[in-house]
Amino acid sequence: MPRKILVTSALPYANGAIHLGHLVEYIQTDIWVRFQKMAGNECWYVCADDTHGTPIMLRAEKEGITPEQLIARVHGEHARDFSGFLVAFDNYHTTHSQETRDCANDIYLKLRAAGLIETRTIEQYFDPVKQLFLPDRFIKGECPKCNAKDQYGDNCEVCGAAYAPTDLINPYSAVSGAKPELRSSEHYFFKLSDPRCEAFLRQYTSRDNGVLQPEAANKMQEWLGAPGENKLTDWDISRDAPYFGFEIPDAPGKYFYVWLDAPIGYMGSFKNLCGKQGLDFDEFWKPDAQTELYHFIGKDILYFHALFWPAELAHAGYRTPTKIFAHGFLTVDGAKMSKSRGTFITAESFLSTGLNPEWLRYYYAAKLSASMEDIDLNLDDFVARVNSDLVGKYVNIASRSAGFIAKRFNGQLAPADENLPALKAIQDAAGRIGELYEAREFAKAMREIMLLTDAANQYVDSVKPWELAKQEGKEVELHAACSNALNLFRLLTVLLKPILPVVAGKVEKFMNIAPLAWSDSQSLLAAGHAINAYEHLMTRVDPKLIEKLVEANRESLAPAPEAQSPQRHAEHQQKEIKPEVAGNLCTIDDFMKVDLRIARIANAEHVEGADKLVRLTLDVGEEKTRNVFAGIKAAYDPAQLVGRLTVMVANLAPRKMKFGLSEGMVLAASDTDGKTPGIFLLAPDAGAQPGMRVK
Ligand code: 2FM
Ligand code: ZN
Repeated sequence: MPRKILVTSALPYANGAIHLGHLVEYIQTDIWVRFQKMAGNECWYVCADDTHGTPIMLRAEKEGITPEQLIARVHGEHARDFSGFLVAFDNYHTTHSQETRDCANDIYLKLRAAGLIETRTIEQYFDPVKQLFLPDRFIKGECPKCNAKDQYGDNCEVCGAAYAPTDLINPYSAVSGAKPELRSSEHYFFKLSDPRCEAFLRQYTSRDNGVLQPEAANKMQEWLGAPGENKLTDWDISRDAPYFGFEIPDAPGKYFYVWLDAPIGYMGSFKNLCGKQGLDFDEFWKPDAQTELYHFIGKDILYFHALFWPAELAHAGYRTPTKIFAHGFLTVDGAKMSKSRGTFITAESFLSTGLNPEWLRYYYAAKLSASMEDIDLNLDDFVARVNSDLVGKYVNIASRSAGFIAKRFNGQLAPADENLPALKAIQDAAGRIGELYEAREFAKAMREIMLLTDAANQYVDSVKPWELAKQEGKEVELHAACSNALNLFRLLTVLLKPILPVVAGKVEKFMNIAPLAWSDSQSLLAAGHAINAYEHLMTRVDPKLIEKLVEANRESLAPAPEAQSPQRHAEHQQKEIKPEVAGNLCTIDDFMKVDLRIARIANAEHVEGADKLVRLTLDVGEEKTRNVFAGIKAAYDPAQLVGRLTVMVANLAPRKMKFGLSEGMVLAASDTDGKTPGIFLLAPDAGAQPGMRVK
């Protein structure tokens, strides 16, 4: 009996471009879904844009368009990018839809009837200029711990401290710059801490229940707390107008917060598909459903999908997910994706640079496992692996044999040798490889497939069709060798088809065969089967394309925060990715960390026993002077320095030296290649006073 399976990937926010980090998940899910379909299961893959929230509302306003116009445009861009990477959703919908609204209302009303919704008055920062309540990420100010300026309302990116926005010193609105006011308002909460939710979640998320990966189940025990110690907290599900989203039934001016319509968007998208395909919605969502439901997500949104979402479903009378599959993040060349390094690569730029999406699908597959570990896209390794595995090994089998069949044998195959070890090996391995696909152990599957590909190549090397072709009277051998090679190639294509759907389509065309299913891994082509002309299947990756790609994505200046892509984080709010800076670049925020001050040299003297140092006593407008050792003895006589103004780094950590404590550093220029010898102490223009900030 074929299984009936509903699969989702996380809904991307409708305020940013799809990038290679997103694609890890969509490619992983798409491969799994394609495998299920090839295996003969009824499998539906749905997704949607996640369209609601303050950031989307503000971005639309900034662009001078309505949120509806913004999300319609982004929907087109996202759909284009996904189809460019061959991610074949059965439905790509939007959370801003009647279906999602109906499902959200239904779930909310059922939870309310079950006594799991309550209201509370909370205090929140309000922007008096923009007249809106500010999400934490839209409030900035001085860190309460380290006093770093311009930190976000939830955590400090300098010292890492986490705090509430109300802890910030001198807070300001990142939207208008205004000083925010604390205002109270009534919010709606889902009572996740209710004993019914706790009891359900302890069982549902337990290791034994098998819904979660073991490491995720462990994380849940941490979040739930030890038995008897309920650590679950109620979840704020409302936001006040103005907000772009769905108004809560019977609560004018209150809107469902993103997380009360985003996962419900899975249902909404499926409901929309049911309308198009005549499917039975309840068969997939009723409590005792015999169908299966799988969510592929990033590990950062585990909290919602493993706690909040199943608790909501269970208490609103719906089925819960069969399994939740969390994956890790993508790093590029071993580091977080970075705009300044050009490794924050958009899907669109990858395709428009001329790179083949199947190269990336294969590379990701070769790295993915069922764990939550991060995966690395190493750009050199990407080129090497694709060229070696796909072009050098796999495609090579067909390109070395197909031509002879067409030219010498009228396109017709000889019978394959059923006992050929390389053929039998593939047939024997297919079941095991299918299990690896099912278990999302794609890297292991790719390793097995490449070993089989090596064996197929060894066969071709051993029979040498190109030599047989030159010899008189070797027709039969040549025909058999090429027919065996093409049968090997066909079987390998079955195994690679979930990864390489376009190549598989070309193979089906040139081999003149029906779309390959998983069960075709057990059959061979009949003698006399006629193939079509061989068409080129895949080119090698030109490393120059990679250079071009990185250049196309390199941004020398940090973009404005609202232009950056959102990312999820521990507090489950929307958050922008901080631009990472490499090489000799720094952000303005980095520069502002250096506290440069005008200093008057109150005293200067030689240091006993030091060749290069002068001891400076600096007046920086503070009560006490600073003692600083400067390596300027070669260029300055201490007596000449007394009374001069210069610039010092005032917040350099004090350093204990052999001669005493150095409490800062003065700034001087010098020629690094030594062409112009000398040290040149900086001096401000006339009028500067000790203690003035230099920036
Ligand atoms: O974290 C995110 O990207 C959100 N847009 C939600 C995705 S998952 C789902 F629940 F919609
Ligand atoms: Zn700090």
